[in-house]
Amino acid sequence: MNPVIMPPPAIDQATRLRELVLDRKDASAGRSKITGVRSVSILSGKGGVGKSNLAVNMALAIANQGMNVTLLDADLGLANIDILFGVVPKFNLGHVLRGEKELSDILFRVGERLTIVPGGSGLRELADIDSERQAWMIDRLSFLENDTDVLIFDTSAGLHRNVLAFAMASDLSVLVTTPEPTAIRDSYSVLKSLWQSTGGNANIGLVVNMAQDKDEAESVSYRILSAAEQFLGCRARYLGCILWDAAIRDSVKKRRPLLLSNERAVSVQCFKDLAGKVFEPRPEAVEAPLEVGGTSFLRRLINQMTRKKAD
Ligand SMILES: Nc1ncnc2c1ncn2[C@@H]1O[C@H](COP(=O)(O)OP(=O)(O)OP(=O)(O)O)[C@@H](O)[C@H]1O
Ligand SMILES: [Mg+2]
Repeated sequence: MNPVIMPPPAIDQATRLRELVLDRKDASAGRSKITGVRSVSILSGKGGVGKSNLAVNMALAIANQGMNVTLLDADLGLANIDILFGVVPKFNLGHVLRGEKELSDILFRVGERLTIVPGGSGLRELADIDSERQAWMIDRLSFLENDTDVLIFDTSAGLHRNVLAFAMASDLSVLVTTPEPTAIRDSYSVLKSLWQSTGGNANIGLVVNMAQDKDEAESVSYRILSAAEQFLGCRARYLGCILWDAAIRDSVKKRRPLLLSNERAVSVQCFKDLAGKVFEPRPEAVEAPLEVGGTSFLRRLINQMTRKKAD
């Protein structure tokens, strides 16, 4: 069964959007569970390591904990969150940016507390528009940030400057690898780049996907994190693993996320555990105060994108 799609009317934009994105009754309960992490970017060095499946199933697991989640397809190449949910969006952020659609026209509500936003070309274009238009866009998008407990961004593999901008603007960057040597090497490169670009102030969590068992995942994580500490002085942390699971592949073929289609699959608990780990406070870090006003992530993002472009 396809998720419910709720196209909003064009009138009374603000009210409608709040209805779509926010369940006020539960939002306050959700917020209290959050320890400063409100925006999470999922990234990887190598492609095909499982970012989108992690983003989707972790978003569902967090929403099941009672928080309102917005999942933004920030893959600048081929977006596929919509495929994983079996929905067909006609419009994306690019249409909003060009003034052809309202933000409410592009949102898909795919669960009681989960909304997805197709990014399309819009995210790439954000960096190229003038500052007046950027301010207008921030104003539009700030609804998302104000009315959501957690924003999750599924990005594309590699070190595209906009991916780095997403990671640098997020409260937490979740770096995904598999046990393959190529994936390990590429994830180390991304970690290094992120660590150096932020002057050693990135909050990075590592996830090992497609692991045979927990021991294998821990040994992969040890290799990456001990090298990062030794050569970069980087204190990233291991968030956990997702076991190799044929049920994930089946769920992709069925276009129905694993957590909605097969609760008994072996990897389901992995996603649930990871959903909890995201909110654990960063070890030894000074906890950054939550910025008020709701536009903090977006401002940071646009600043990063614009700065990276100028470099
Ligand atoms: N734990 C797992 N066990 C088995 N197969 C998996 C697992 N995780 C992901 N896959 C499979 O790996 C493939 C790639 O997954 P996914 O699309 O999530 O990767 P990605 O990192 O988002 O890729 P891209 O870099 O192209 O965006 C899919 O076919 C998916 O079914
Ligand atoms: Mg993907």
